[in-house]
Amino acid sequence: MIRINENYTKLKASYLFSDIAKRVSAYQQANPGKPVIRLGIGDVTEPLPPVCVEALHAATAEMGRRETFKGYGPEQGYAFLREAIAQNDFQARGARIEPDEIFVSDGSKCDCGNIQEIFSNDLRLAIPDPVYPVYVDTNVMAGRTGANVDGRYEGITYLDCTPANGYVPQVPSVAADLIYLCFPNNPTGAVATRAQLAAWVEYAKKNKAVILYDAAYEAFIRNPEIPHSIYEIDGARDVAIEFRSFSKTAGFTGTRCAFTVIPKTLVAYDAAGRAQPLHPLWNRRHTTKFNGVSYPIQKAAAAIYTDEGKKQTKALTDFYLGNAALIRQAVSKLGFTCVGGENAPYIWINTGRDSWEFFDLLLNKAQVVCTPGAGFGKCGEGHVRISAFNSRENVVAALERIAQALK
Ligand code: MLT
Repeated sequence: MIRINENYTKLKASYLFSDIAKRVSAYQQANPGKPVIRLGIGDVTEPLPPVCVEALHAATAEMGRRETFKGYGPEQGYAFLREAIAQNDFQARGARIEPDEIFVSDGSKCDCGNIQEIFSNDLRLAIPDPVYPVYVDTNVMAGRTGANVDGRYEGITYLDCTPANGYVPQVPSVAADLIYLCFPNNPTGAVATRAQLAAWVEYAKKNKAVILYDAAYEAFIRNPEIPHSIYEIDGARDVAIEFRSFSKTAGFTGTRCAFTVIPKTLVAYDAAGRAQPLHPLWNRRHTTKFNGVSYPIQKAAAAIYTDEGKKQTKALTDFYLGNAALIRQAVSKLGFTCVGGENAPYIWINTGRDSWEFFDLLLNKAQVVCTPGAGFGKCGEGHVRISAFNSRENVVAALERIAQALK
């Protein structure tokens, strides 16, 4: 008799953003005359930078000519893209990352979700709360947790992110083997200082642990003191994997391109306690289950590293940060405290009210979609996340509607 993976039954019925989409669509069906403004899921709205569009056209034309046509590419990504990434995203910041330590993929969500496959099932997990739900859910699916008791899975050390610690988790007093960190943070928009990251690297070294560092939002960092990569911290090459994405940097949510960095010096241990490099394991996984990102998309991604590409992507992230500043200003005026929005596209608002109730209030009274904090974890209760990803016109209109609704 075929049986299901019972770990799936421990999960909440649907993924957070699917749940929200269902609620919004039910509202729209019941209220067809009331247009909704979406500041919930972090999906970009502005078109691709022109350099990317030009590169896409040129690469597509190459695919249409016998002499330049390409079939399967290297699963790890074309050298032109891996070299541009290594040089611009890492070496230019003093981080020693080589092109062959970079694995190009079709999204950070997939990589963050799949990476746990190369680790044992009996490891000790440390995961922030609130958190991007993919980190928790994929470990639940893999059977690394117990049941969900009162909103938290047994077997996870939750790293509380609260107003008291500025929403940046401290190293725990207990040992963990696999640690998830995300900076600039989704959902809170908080950033980690060099000293805070150094404390995590030290903790990982001491515990022979691995940090999974999600830096999908690094392009929004404006404070020059804040590291863009964990590899800017001494010793991080030996304890961390980093995830990056072109989704928010260059408007690729619908285009799909990202990458994961696995330094060749990074190890984990086998049952006999022998150190084993992780790079070959992920390479084996990647080449077995993935066939590469298409050539035109990789060409479009590489275009952002040209001088013109850098200007255009900076303008794009500046634009969303302009929205974020307006949101911060408006919610502060309404009397709420918030974090994020200065080096990140998300604003995390402490409403002090039930977060799903607040979500419903904004949807029903203002026709604005936010994300309820409780959807990101227990510590998210009492908060909502507002995303800066929308047109200026929609953000201004949404803020006016929210002010009216909360009068
Ligand atoms: C979010 O809204 O948290 C992000 O869009 C999720 C993602 O990038 O998958």
